[in-house]
Amino acid sequence: MALAFLQWIFRLLMALIVFQGVCVMFYFTPNTHSSRDGMTEALRQMHCAKLRRKFSIIKPAKSIKMESFTRELSDFMSCPYKSNTTEREVNRLSLQIFCNATGSLFLTKRNTAVNQSIPYETSTTDTYTMNETLHSMMPEDFPWSGRRLGRCAVVGSGGILKNSSCGREIDSADFVIRFNLAMINDSDVGLKTDLITINPSQIQKEYKNLEENTDPLVERVSVYGNTFFIMPAFAYKFCTELSIRALNVLHAIRPQKPMAFFSPYYLQTLDGFWKRRGLNPRRLSTGFMLISTALELCEDVHVYGFWPFYTDLQDNPVPYHYYNLNRPSKRMHKMPEEFVRLLKLHSQGALTLHLQPCSSDTH
Ligand SMILES: *[C@@H]1O[C@H](CO)[C@@H](O)[C@H](O)[C@H]1NC(C)=O
Ligand SMILES: *[C@@H]1O[C@H](CO)[C@@H](O)[C@H](O)[C@H]1NC(C)=O
Ligand SMILES: *[C@@H]1O[C@H](CO)[C@@H](O)[C@H](O)[C@H]1NC(C)=O
Ligand SMILES: *[C@@H]1O[C@H](CO)[C@@H](O)[C@H](O)[C@H]1NC(C)=O
Ligand SMILES: *[C@@H]1O[C@H](CO)[C@@H](O)[C@H](O)[C@H]1NC(C)=O
Ligand SMILES: *[C@@H]1O[C@H](CO)[C@@H](O)[C@H](O)[C@H]1NC(C)=O
Repeated sequence: MALAFLQWIFRLLMALIVFQGVCVMFYFTPNTHSSRDGMTEALRQMHCAKLRRKFSIIKPAKSIKMESFTRELSDFMSCPYKSNTTEREVNRLSLQIFCNATGSLFLTKRNTAVNQSIPYETSTTDTYTMNETLHSMMPEDFPWSGRRLGRCAVVGSGGILKNSSCGREIDSADFVIRFNLAMINDSDVGLKTDLITINPSQIQKEYKNLEENTDPLVERVSVYGNTFFIMPAFAYKFCTELSIRALNVLHAIRPQKPMAFFSPYYLQTLDGFWKRRGLNPRRLSTGFMLISTALELCEDVHVYGFWPFYTDLQDNPVPYHYYNLNRPSKRMHKMPEEFVRLLKLHSQGALTLHLQPCSSDTH
């Protein structure tokens, strides 16, 4: 009885598909033990295709109804991932042409001159004049010059990473990007860190006495080993002094590879890039910025810990960050809008968004 009903539904859906003129190849083998498995599989594939289409043209976050959204998203995240090479190359090329992380993500001795006037990312009038001392502390060049990074993991601070067991999977990436000196550990978030940002306000709030005592910061950064530290020194005027203070500490302990400052030119063009594509916050989050960077520099981008909502896909409450309860400024950032954009990129096959716990047997 139930089987007959399913068959009827199946025929109806088939008719609808043919009617729409969409050509779908069904994985349907009547000779297996149960034709119902095949049918369920076909229905599942159609459900996945429908969700993929829906999320690849998803509208801004304001219109989201959280309950049905998480239910559908949870289904979609169980669907097989479909990568799209064309989509990836189009994104890579447009980002390279308009923003060029490859040659301008941060200021280097090569791309910046002594006495050059550096603009501020968020101001049309303020500038900073690069002097010889600061210039001598800039990195020579980019660690990736001339080669494409392979599989990159961009690890946000979202509370969904708690108990996720994603550490092994993240650590198996070729290049791992993290934020705000976030805590690392092998079980949930991994240890490998190739690039990590420091927020100037972290220096302001947590290292007030840096002039007298550098030990706490030195200790904090030591867990990341030989990583690349990066700060938005020219986002706002107050950032510069704080960034230089941190740079002086790091330069003293690791003169060969102290720290980089984001290029305000790069961040300005990146802001314009996303504005033209309808993403319009006061300022993009650093997370979204570096995911964009990864879309240009990496072969394959995997995004973890980006989830700006209060409950997870199973409707359980999640902390905002996996290591503290701080929230980003609502006035400054539009995290749900950025998330919707990431979901769109995932559905289009341009990057892989990880929202569920990792299974222990991957990689
Ligand atoms: C891949 O993306 C391109 C560009 O958006 C699109 O035209 C094409 O249909 C996509 N391919 C698949 C298999 O979805
Ligand atoms: C990116 O910047 C590098 C270094 O400045 C330059 O050699 C390269 O031509 C630029 N690429 C594009 C696409 O503008
Ligand atoms: C930078 O400016 C200072 C002061 O105007 C000048 O003495 C110095 O030669 C300049 N350095 C370079 C490399 O242009
Ligand atoms: C260069 O700039 C830094 C930071 O603003 C400042 O501390 C230093 O005194 C300057 N050095 C010279 C030679 O002007
Ligand atoms: C993580 O697991 C621990 C121990 O199993 C549990 O007490 C805690 O509530 C879990 N936290 C989250 C956010 O799931
Ligand atoms: C790893 O870090 C997460 C997030 O802070 C924490 O919940 C978890 O207990 C830590 N696990 C270990 C083994 O330290």
